Amino acid sequence: MIWNRKNPYLAEIYECQLLSGEKSNREIRHYEIDLGNSKIKYEPGDSLGVIPKNNHELINSMISRLDASSSTIPDGYDSSLFDLLENDYEILTPTNRLIHFINENTLHKKLNDIILRQDKEALAKFKYGKDILDFMNLDKSLKIDLNVFLSLLKPIQHRAYSISSSSLVHPNQIHLTVSTERWSNNSRSYGGVCSTFLSDKCLKGSKIKIFLIPNKLFRLPKDQKKPIIMIGPGTGVAPFMSFLQERKANRSIGKNWLFFGAQTQMNDYLYCDQIKLMKKDNILQKLNLAFSRDQKEKIYVQDKMYDERSEFFQWIENGAFLYVCGDAHKMAKDVDSMLHKIIRSQLDCSYEVSVDYIKNLKKEKRYLLDVY
Ligand SMILES: Cc1cc2nc3c(=O)[nH]c(=O)nc-3n(C[C@H](O)[C@H](O)[C@H](O)COP(=O)(O)OP(=O)(O)OC[C@H]3O[C@@H](n4cnc5c(N)ncnc54)[C@H](O)[C@@H]3O)c2cc1C
Ligand SMILES: NC(=O)c1ccc[n+]([C@@H]2O[C@H](COP(=O)([O-])OP(=O)(O)OC[C@H]3O[C@@H](n4cnc5c(N)ncnc54)[C@H](OP(=O)(O)O)[C@@H]3O)[C@@H](O)[C@H]2O)c1
Repeated sequence: MIWNRKNPYLAEIYECQLLSGEKSNREIRHYEIDLGNSKIKYEPGDSLGVIPKNNHELINSMISRLDASSSTIPDGYDSSLFDLLENDYEILTPTNRLIHFINENTLHKKLNDIILRQDKEALAKFKYGKDILDFMNLDKSLKIDLNVFLSLLKPIQHRAYSISSSSLVHPNQIHLTVSTERWSNNSRSYGGVCSTFLSDKCLKGSKIKIFLIPNKLFRLPKDQKKPIIMIGPGTGVAPFMSFLQERKANRSIGKNWLFFGAQTQMNDYLYCDQIKLMKKDNILQKLNLAFSRDQKEKIYVQDKMYDERSEFFQWIENGAFLYVCGDAHKMAKDVDSMLHKIIRSQLDCSYEVSVDYIKNLKKEKRYLLDVY
């Protein structure tokens, strides 16, 4: 059977644990998913697609705002309104269509003005942290026809999560490392659709819809003698737990170097025990930790790379594969800039030469990214 987005496998959550500490600013959980008789086979570097269900409280608030009833079957549909909002549509993040509909039917000076000026930056700022219900409530007197409303939503999307286990060590299981997204303003609390679905609804024994998302562009070197350097702050460490488990199980002789970063050592050092053990057992030959908030000045993974620039460059010259996983918006860009800087410093060369050097690394598929 081929499982995919349209035909997901219903898998059981075998285990879930909170990884982040009590005083962390983050809520990061480790999930173990049983692959049952799915025959799903994965490799380190692959991700798992999870199809979430929407939050019941939000669905009920939305139905009440629409002045509708949960059991209503909208014209042209086969399911109840509650079912449609739970399973079929994205009901958190507003689509552009919905924002334009609200704008055209609402007297809201700020939004009307932003859209009239086509000011994308101001719109992004206005949207930030607001969900569909907030937009509907910009004018509480606005009546919204149910079918029109549904036409303004987009179908529910799966979310991808990097797999943090190796099947050689955990046969028939997939592990994930997920940061639960929650935020609030003065009047409401919000939660990311899939991360809160997992943390709040998926207890041990629950079933979730999953499918494999292979990533051929983020693989361990075929030649197990090759050294690898892994840079993965925060949840970016996930695929590297899989890489390290796999390299250990295969008794690969290539050296392994991990750069991990988090806010504090006490509360945010994910998989601390396993990482320490791998260091002790010499699976990890080198480990650099950047706890950004344990001192006055921020320290990030790229600062640790620079501290180690000579050896870092030597590993690359010796054929190391370089992997970066985690935040795409800032971290991966800053790590990339640091890589240029390290190459410039070690080769005593111009920016252009470092660009060519990195282009070559990419061409040789030795600089691989899994960023989001
Ligand atoms: C290949 C890949 C691998 C990934 N691997 C992992 C992984 O291993 N672990 C992991 O945790 N994630 C991973 N992600 C990210 C993951 O797929 C989801 O994007 C993430 O969990 C958020 O999804 P959600 O459904 O909870 O939130 P959504 O419902 O998608 O909501 C997110 C929205 O909420 C808004 N938002 C979020 N936080 C705030 C805030 N504080 N204030 C205001 N607005 C906010 C954002 O603007 C965003 O539009 C990966 C992504 C990709 C593409
Ligand atoms: N709720 C929020 O306020 C908020 C903010 C950011 C991310 N998130 C979410 O939290 C989840 C976990 O994020 P994450 O896995 O990336 O972990 P994270 O906990 O946000 O970050 C891990 C480490 O990376 C550091 N970092 C921040 N900017 C960096 C940069 N430019 N370069 C290198 N390191 C940098 C962080 O430091 P500092 O945090 O000390 O700067 C922290 O030490 C993500 O899903 C993300 O969307 C939430």
